[in-house]
Amino acid sequence: MTDYYKKGTIEDIVELRKNGLIPMECRAYFKDMLKALFYCHKTVEVFHRDIKPANIVIDHDNSAVLIDFGLSSIRDSDFLKHAEGSLQYYAPEMFTHAMDKDQVLLGEKVDIWALGITLFYMTLGKTPFESAGKKGTIQAKMKLRDLIVDGNIDFDEIVDYELRELL
Ligand SMILES: Nc1ncnc2c1ncn2[C@@H]1O[C@H](COP(=O)(O)OP(=O)(O)O)[C@@H](O)[C@H]1O
Ligand SMILES: [Mg+2]
Repeated sequence: MTDYYKKGTIEDIVELRKNGLIPMECRAYFKDMLKALFYCHKTVEVFHRDIKPANIVIDHDNSAVLIDFGLSSIRDSDFLKHAEGSLQYYAPEMFTHAMDKDQVLLGEKVDIWALGITLFYMTLGKTPFESAGKKGTIQAKMKLRDLIVDGNIDFDEIVDYELRELL
C-alpha cells in the first residue's frame, strides 16, 4: 500500500503548464529522483525499469516520489513485452540488444537514461524524440528507435544554462 498523492504525477503537472517547469523545480525533482535511484540501485539492488513522468508523484511538501515498481522484478526477456507505453524513455541499448533475449541489459544505466529523458521533459514540456510521432504505429516505433539509437538530441531550446549542461 502507498499513500495517495493528490498533487498528481510530474506528467500531470507538466501537461497543465504546457511549456515545462521552472528550472528550480526541475532541479529539485531531479535531485529527489537521483536519491531514490541511488537507494534502489545501491542499497536494495533493484532496478525500476519504467522511470518516466507518469511514474513520479509529488507529495504534500513538494518532494518527488517514485511509484509503480511493477516492472522491476520481472525477467529481462519478459520486460520488453511489457514496456510498450514507455518507448520515449527507452535507452538506446534496449533497442540494439532486443534481439538477444538472454542478454542482461536492464541495469542502472537504463534507469539513469530514462531519468535524463524525464529531466528533459520537465524542462521543455516534451521529450527529445517526439518528432517520431506519438501514435503506436510500427512506422512511428521504428522512427523512434532510429532517433534514440542515433542519439541526436537538440538541447538548443533549453534556456537555463545549468540545466542544459546537466542534460
Ligand atoms: N499513490 C498514488 N497517488 C496518486 N496517483 C497515483 C498513485 N499511484 C498511481 N497513481 C496514478 O495512476 C497511474 C497509474 O498507476 P501506476 O502505479 O503507474 O500503474 P501502471 O502504470 O502500472 O498502470 C499513475 O500514472 C498515476 O497517475
Ligand atoms: Mg505507471
